[in-house]
Parts: sequence; C-alpha cells; structure tokens
Amino acid sequence: MTSTQNKPVRVLFVCLGNICRSPTAQAVFEYKVRAAGLEGAIEIDSAGTSAYHIGEQPDRRAQLTARRRGIDMSGQRSRQVSRIDCERFDYILAMDSDNLYDLRRLCSPEQSHKLARFLDFAPQAGIRDVPDPYYGGSSGFENVFDLIEMAADGLLADIVQTRLNGS
Ligand code: 4NP
Repeated sequence: MTSTQNKPVRVLFVCLGNICRSPTAQAVFEYKVRAAGLEGAIEIDSAGTSAYHIGEQPDRRAQLTARRRGIDMSGQRSRQVSRIDCERFDYILAMDSDNLYDLRRLCSPEQSHKLARFLDFAPQAGIRDVPDPYYGGSSGFENVFDLIEMAADGLLADIVQTRLNGS
C-alpha cells in the first residue's frame, strides 16, 4: 500500500498563464476522475508560472473548445504557482519545458521527484511539450485538447496503478 486510504493524491497542472493549457488539463482530468468514481481520492488544481492573468477566467477559446466537448471550465480563475504548492502536491505537471525549468527553480531539490512534463504520460503523442496556443488560432486549442485528453488517460492509469491500488 503506497497511499493511505484517507489522504488524497494531489495533482497540480502548471503552464505559463493558467488561462489556456493548465485549466484545460484541470477540467479534463476532473472530468475523467469523476467518471472513474475517484473524486474523493484525487485532488486537482492548476496554476501559472507567471502573474500575467491572475484572477481571470480561462481564455474564451479554451472554454469554447472544452464546451464543445462537454466540459465547463468557466468556474476556474487563474492563480500563480508558489512554493507552498511544491509542498502540497504529489504530482506537479508542467505543460512545457519552460514551465518545468521555472518549477525546478521554485521547488527544492527534495521536491524535484514530484515534477514532470504532463506529456510524459502520453508517450504515444511523440512530443514532449503541449504547444502554447495563446497567439495562434482555434485549431491550436483543438490540438491542445487532444494532447491533454491523451495524457490525462495515462496519468489516471498511473495514479490508479501506483497510488490507489495498493499491493
Ligand atoms: P497558457 O497560455 O500558458 O497555456 O495559459 C498563455 C496565456 C497567456 C500568455 C501566454 C501563454 N501570455 O503571454 O499572456
């Protein structure tokens, strides 16, 4: 048994602005965790490495893409990642290499085992970074959503196998 029955596994998704990629990852992963009946066992949040959009709702284009796929992310608000997050969360998942670099500087070496790229959980995608869609068109948001769905499936399988199934 690697996790106690009572303590949830805590997952934080991190991008630059916390208005496009990481809120989408949060919403998609919440959806999949709920569908698996695991909402009590896994806690999910997201944050940005920058302070650019603190307090804002997710980008309209991200919300539209998610809504078309049955996911409402309008309740989310952007916040900046902090050192407390490095302590609190078990998985701290960067959307791209720049985010991972910033997280390595924020968190201590003892916490670095918590850090990974989100797409490490989707090796079949063939890329390591979720591309930043902010300055592009709506097809960028569709691509981001597809990548996030793939990695969310891989992440959930990993957590179930390594943290929740015991043995
Ligand atoms: P995100 O996208 O990191 O996926 O939320 C971005 C949002 C805002 C900016 C860049 C990327 N920006 O430069 O303001």
